[in-house]
Amino acid sequence: MSNTPVSLESVPKHIAIIMDGNGRWAKAQGKPRVFGHKAGVTAVRKTISGAVNLGVKAVTLFAFSSENWRRPAEEVNLLMELFITALSKEVKRMHKNNLRLRVIGDKTQFSKRLQNKIASAEELTAGNSGMVVNIAANYGGKWDITNAVKMIASDVRKGELQVEDITESLVQQHLTMADLPEVDLLIRTSGECRISNFLLWQLAYAEMYFTPECWPDFDEESLAEAVSWFVNRERRFGCTGEQIKALMNNK
Ligand code: IPE
Ligand code: IPE
Ligand code: MG
Repeated sequence: MSNTPVSLESVPKHIAIIMDGNGRWAKAQGKPRVFGHKAGVTAVRKTISGAVNLGVKAVTLFAFSSENWRRPAEEVNLLMELFITALSKEVKRMHKNNLRLRVIGDKTQFSKRLQNKIASAEELTAGNSGMVVNIAANYGGKWDITNAVKMIASDVRKGELQVEDITESLVQQHLTMADLPEVDLLIRTSGECRISNFLLWQLAYAEMYFTPECWPDFDEESLAEAVSWFVNRERRFGCTGEQIKALMNNK
């Protein structure tokens, strides 16, 4: 079996990552937390490049949660500055590589300057046909679902939608990333095993991979390890392996 090449089809189409452990990584070296956040940008670059090489369709990176505003103001400000600088720098590289950049989350809470940067980055890369990179910033899974509920409720109020017509699929269509393949692999670094209000609905059937490695140490090799773990699992979606195999053979 070890000689059999892994088919690209078995590689996850959509990988979501909770990039955690920057602070602890820095602290372990006697450096301030921001040192870890800066090193985290390099890990993002390596991860994106690794995912592109694997033929992944979309990568969603948790950069700042709706709860992260509770951190000391100094750290929040540094993170915002870093986000602006990284956006300006990385977007050009991403555009050159035909990638599409999107920011998901409640952008209204960001400074006008950051909102403008985000809008122009999204605009610049919107027409590209390569992998989609979603940056989840001021994102919360509960926010995403609440937002969808608000849009649906507003359609009902306008008389454009009947309550009976609200289905799971309709709710899904109002969530962020509705147009992308379902998340099939979630990775969280730094040994923590929780969702921290990241994607909730979208992780319904995702495989979850937790690694003790802190985010700044994550690279192409770490990604390959996570993906091979994923490929070696038989995915079931609540039905038997035989049913899935039969489905595959019918294609
Ligand atoms: C993840 O690293 C980055 C962000 C949440 C912005 P942390 O900052 O959470 O690092 P730890 O978990 O404190 O080590
Ligand atoms: C989750 O990490 C958010 C990001 C990685 C951006 P946190 O470090 O903020 O999560 P908790 O607070 O430990 O759950
Ligand atoms: Mg953390």
